[in-house]
Amino acid sequence: MKIVIKTLQGLEEILMKEVELLGAQNIKKRKRAVECEGKLPFLYEANLKLRTALRILVPVYEFTAHNGTELYNQVKIFDWSQFLDISQTYAIDNTIFSEYFTHSKYAALKMKDAIADQFREKFDLRPSVNTDKPDILFNLHAYQDKFTISLDSSGRLLNQRGYREHGHQAPLNEVMAAGLLKLANWNKSIPLIDPMCGTGTIIIEAVLMGLNIPPQINQNEFGFKNWNNFQPLMWNRIKAEAQSKIRSTPLMITGGDIDGDAVAQAKKTLKKLRMGRDVQIKHIAFENFIPKFQRGMIITNPPYGKRIGDEVDNLYKKMGDTFKKNFSGFNAWILSSNVPALKKLHLKPSENIALFNGALQVQFCRYNLKEGKYLK
Ligand SMILES: C[S@@+](CC[C@H](N)C(=O)[O-])C[C@H]1O[C@@H](n2cnc3c(N)ncnc32)[C@H](O)[C@@H]1O
Repeated sequence: MKIVIKTLQGLEEILMKEVELLGAQNIKKRKRAVECEGKLPFLYEANLKLRTALRILVPVYEFTAHNGTELYNQVKIFDWSQFLDISQTYAIDNTIFSEYFTHSKYAALKMKDAIADQFREKFDLRPSVNTDKPDILFNLHAYQDKFTISLDSSGRLLNQRGYREHGHQAPLNEVMAAGLLKLANWNKSIPLIDPMCGTGTIIIEAVLMGLNIPPQINQNEFGFKNWNNFQPLMWNRIKAEAQSKIRSTPLMITGGDIDGDAVAQAKKTLKKLRMGRDVQIKHIAFENFIPKFQRGMIITNPPYGKRIGDEVDNLYKKMGDTFKKNFSGFNAWILSSNVPALKKLHLKPSENIALFNGALQVQFCRYNLKEGKYLK
């Protein structure tokens, strides 16, 4: 079956590699997505294991429409009872890029009505809509007059790993954090430091990767579980196999932050994941952070200024000075949307990757700090 896997803009190639490793066929790069072919076991495994996927869709119906009536009629001629039972609830997620449909909600409303009317005419009853927690989540995608309706096999965003503690003002998207680790080519043998770790998203994703823990291992709700072709034995076998491949390896991962509340949250999350012993998190300003190793990698997401407050120029200047002084021998990767502030680091990037953190354009820059000796 054809499968479309959505991701953040800039992470498509990283996702392609992940998808290839899971054995999918005919992998193609799309904008903010990867398209491939795979069978049901792949679909289950992809939902469980892909670190840079946001949603995994299975297209079921394609048509063209130029107005609401055409859309309604096209949806109504397709047999929706093959995917949706009267006793189930449904909802429609939509992504519409079309000059014919300038209000995306209107297109989704027409689709919802067509499905409801089809059921009412056939069975005298109709399934209910539940936008919060639908049993079956459809995805309506349009590019101009070309529409695709897919089943959302994830049923929710896959950056929801189930570990997030709420409260911090600017946590990083988990999919972005995992993508940064992969873009930087981090692996568990490299000491990793996030000296502005906030709630710890980057280091938590690193621990999950380092120990080979599937990102969705603690999640039980997936859209595909409500499909009438759900194979519980297959799903349980895939989950058990993944569980058996979790390693217990010592990791060299450290986080720090100046904000005591964020540090407390990060520690709480790590405790919840039973990873308290795998990483160290310190309540410390990066200016005072002295690494235990003379080589390694920094991956960090400092305040951008636009989102958290002003006076970032000084902060970036201090970061540049401290990194040169205390972290020589490290590769530093910094994610920021604030290009003028990045210049204040007074470091020359050896790589600069453009990404989108939601709607915000960000740069992921690599700085090779001077060579030092490996201490350990
Ligand atoms: C954008 S947030 C990081 C969010 C984090 N990646 C997460 O997922 O929660 C930037 C962090 O930098 C921290 N910070 C700002 N100045 C700092 C300093 N001098 N030393 C250490 N941390 C600092 C803030 O407290 C904040 O938590």
